[in-house]
Amino acid sequence: MKAKVRLKRATARDADDYVRIERSVESPINLVTTNVDEARKEIENPLALVWMVLYETKNVGLVQVQMLPGKHAYLAEIAIEPTYQGHGIGGDVLRTIVAKMRRAGACTMSLRTHEQNRARQLYERHGFVVTGRLEDHGKSSSPRLVMSRKLQTEER
Ligand SMILES: CC(C)(COP(=O)(O)OP(=O)(O)OC[C@H]1O[C@@H](n2cnc3c(N)ncnc32)[C@H](O)[C@@H]1OP(=O)(O)O)[C@@H](O)C(=O)NCCC(=O)NCCS
Repeated sequence: MKAKVRLKRATARDADDYVRIERSVESPINLVTTNVDEARKEIENPLALVWMVLYETKNVGLVQVQMLPGKHAYLAEIAIEPTYQGHGIGGDVLRTIVAKMRRAGACTMSLRTHEQNRARQLYERHGFVVTGRLEDHGKSSSPRLVMSRKLQTEER
């Protein structure tokens, strides 16, 4: 399945798919953008880089990264539709994004995830370690972990 997967920079035309994918992964520990206008704003935000994950010609996932001051890349979102999960696509996307951000000059990368989220194992396999813990995060009251990694070293 994963051989046919590639990333494409999102445009406003992808906003409907963006929302469909976000809704498909929504859960009490994963609060998402469910409004098409908001999705369009996120896609067009000049401070964010949003890619759609394509399987053949279908958008099956999305990934969003922000380049922050201090050569730091923040992985704001990664989502793969449930039907396509567990086939290595998310791992490939993460590897590609790490390489892209390294080429763009980022020295470190971080993300936030709920401590109960299974995705934590995926991030650990890709070199992220827990570097912080946020007890209170907006709409969700359960704690979230900050996970980070350096980008200068060779990829795993
Ligand atoms: C996390 C996610 C992007 C990974 O994509 P994927 O294509 O399933 O990933 P891969 O097949 O390369 O790797 C499998 C690993 O992903 C994670 N994973 C798989 N399904 C998951 C799910 N429903 N929710 C969270 N993590 C999941 C696990 O760590 C899994 O490893 P394991 O089988 O050893 O537990 C995808 O599962 C997803 O969109 N999950 C729901 C949204 C989410 O939780 N996003 C992360 C927010 S921080």
